[in-house]
Amino acid sequence: MATKILVTGGTGYIGSHTTVELQNAGYEVVIVDNLSNSNIKVLDGIEAITGIRPAFEEVDCTDMTALKAVFDKYPGIKAIINFAASKAVGESVQKPLLYYRNNLTTLINLLELMPQYGVEGFVFSSSCTVYGQPEVLPVTEDTPRQTATSPYGNTKKICEDIITDAVHADAPFKAILLRYFNPIGAHPSAKIGELPLGVPQNLIPFVTQTAAGIREQLSVFGNDYNTPDGSCIRDYINVVDLAKAHVVAVERMLTGKSLENVEVFNVGTGRGLSVLEIVDTFQKVTGVKLNYKIVGRREGDIEQVWADPTKANNVLGWKAEASVEDTLLSAWRWQESLAK
Ligand code: UD1
Repeated sequence: MATKILVTGGTGYIGSHTTVELQNAGYEVVIVDNLSNSNIKVLDGIEAITGIRPAFEEVDCTDMTALKAVFDKYPGIKAIINFAASKAVGESVQKPLLYYRNNLTTLINLLELMPQYGVEGFVFSSSCTVYGQPEVLPVTEDTPRQTATSPYGNTKKICEDIITDAVHADAPFKAILLRYFNPIGAHPSAKIGELPLGVPQNLIPFVTQTAAGIREQLSVFGNDYNTPDGSCIRDYINVVDLAKAHVVAVERMLTGKSLENVEVFNVGTGRGLSVLEIVDTFQKVTGVKLNYKIVGRREGDIEQVWADPTKANNVLGWKAEASVEDTLLSAWRWQESLAK
């Protein structure tokens, strides 16, 4: 019988790609999602790619009673991958309590249910935001975390601490914290991808929507940073590569390979690219001209950050494989597929 994995937030951007990779690797997936920031049609995309429609429950993970009912309905869940969280930095500044309630309550509910249902492993979606602006680049997992610059970032930091405390208090499960850098791109089939609601806040969806004529102009936030071309630098990681890191993390915990009960891994490529390099590469690989303009800095932006992924490469046995060219092309193909 296939090993059962609960994927919270499984109809979202990273959750849907991870569900595909889990199913491709032979796992049985149960998705819970409240559809607050995703569309049920994503299940069709997952089914079209894998030939399997994952079990789906429309449940808000902050609702303990409803969540418990999911564990009763699907006995034998072995691991949880928790994507269910609010993730917009700007919105979190406006609505901090919503962010604390959603992100912390979801986590606590899941951690409390795990021992009751014999769940052995937990993967948490953390973020490079916990490093703030690091003094030394690239960042390793030992780079000190800094005070968060937004309630969103603070929830990531607090959630990491809650998991660590729970595991150290002899909780009978293992956990892996994956610190994502900047996930971009879409499945090469163009059947699933990022579906931002309203005006995109993140770079790549804004780029693809501008290229498609949905947005008039891309604003490049700042060209006076202390970087080679003056624009900010990030480590852009292909979403399918990122999804695969979750599969490896689950396997590691369930096959007893974890060296510690809580392990932390940076999930990035190890390569930093500037906003202007992204714009250039996008134009080159797609042949589409981007209407963009350099504007002032965006408040709260980090100047530059990229990962040292050595630990994930060597210990987890995972490596980013996709080129940024192919990744940007996949984002564009996905955008084009939305117009059809
Ligand atoms: C931010 C968070 C990250 C979080 C992610 C989720 C910080 C430091 N990072 O990532 O933790 O997981 O959001 O959404 O808060 N840019 C433009 N024009 C645009 C949009 C973006 O020039 O229209 C630039 C930004 O200034 C930045 C880069 O593109 O330099 C990437 O921005 P974005 O995609 O929003 O991601 P982060 O801010 O890195």
